[in-house]
Amino acid sequence: MKDSSQIGILGLGAYVPKRVLTNLDLEKMVDTSDEWIVTRTGIKQRHLASPGEASSDLGVKAAKKALEDAKLKPEEIDAIITATLSPDHIFPSTACLIQGELGAENAAAFDLGAGCSGFIYACTVAYGLVKAGMEKVLVIGTETISRFVNWQERSTCVLFGDAAGAAVIGRVKEGGIYGWDLGADGRGHDLLKINAGGSREPLTAENIASNRQFLSMSGPEVFRFAVRIIPKTGKKALEKANFEIEDIDWLIPHQANSRIIEAAIESLGIERDKVFVNLERYGNTSAASIPLAWTEGVLEGKIKRGDKLLLIGFGAGLTWAAMVLEY
Ligand code: UT7
Repeated sequence: MKDSSQIGILGLGAYVPKRVLTNLDLEKMVDTSDEWIVTRTGIKQRHLASPGEASSDLGVKAAKKALEDAKLKPEEIDAIITATLSPDHIFPSTACLIQGELGAENAAAFDLGAGCSGFIYACTVAYGLVKAGMEKVLVIGTETISRFVNWQERSTCVLFGDAAGAAVIGRVKEGGIYGWDLGADGRGHDLLKINAGGSREPLTAENIASNRQFLSMSGPEVFRFAVRIIPKTGKKALEKANFEIEDIDWLIPHQANSRIIEAAIESLGIERDKVFVNLERYGNTSAASIPLAWTEGVLEGKIKRGDKLLLIGFGAGLTWAAMVLEY
């Protein structure tokens, strides 16, 4: 794969809504404590969308920054892929709303549902589209999970935050995407889901009264899955790229839980100071978490052009994904 790759990142951007909800705020809402949340997850605060601010609104803001970084106009984009598990609507796609708002009149637009692995899945699809002849593809991970969380359920409401991140993918002179691994195990579809509101269980007064319209998760099972799958998918992507873990400058893992990231450091054998972590400030922002961390790493001057990156995601589906690239 290494030789054929000259497709990579033309621009990056992220956006987080202004409102901040701290662990201390949550202590006033549910039976929890800052100590429990920090020890079990590493999260200290998260950002929440304002009323009326939807996933496409966050996505547009991140996309504009990525376009600016790539020095491109919206009309130059051939396709927009939006990875989200918290779309504006069941249909039309959030990507179409973003396309319209950006004025990206020459872009095809569609959503991709792969949970928290969605951004890497979408980057891989974008890579394929560029290989198939498109020039510039905009990938956006955007989430307003706060709308789908039960704010009375302490086991989930402390975990998530709202954000968006975006990347423009196209032909590059140097570096680019070297390898990836994508996977799924649909037998785990029940472990992280929204039960009601789709065709299997349309909304009724009864299921709304039972809170089935909200996100539900079997935390410990998903935790065990994440710890098992991260080294597996990471090593597969490294192998496909013909890289060793020592070649990697930065691991950017999905920011779900600091204990999961600790386990990943151990199992992949990567040095801790090569792992970018920002979940203490944003919580788990699902499909936005990797591009948000990546963009922040760049803005902080840590992650630089030419660095070799390993991205690893996992989440609802169950799904997993890893990508090796030279930024
Ligand atoms: O991005 C998608 C992927 N999702 C994830 O990666 C999440 C993976 N899972 C996790 O990160 C962890 O499983 C959690 C952070 C969700 C939970 O941590 P845990 O160590 O697995 O805790 P647990 O669910 O086994 O709960 C332990 C205890 C329980 O009390 P008992 O039964 O031992 O008395 C819970 O009721 O902690 C209790 N608990 C809480 N206590 C205070 C659960 N949530 C809270 C809370 N505050 N917010």
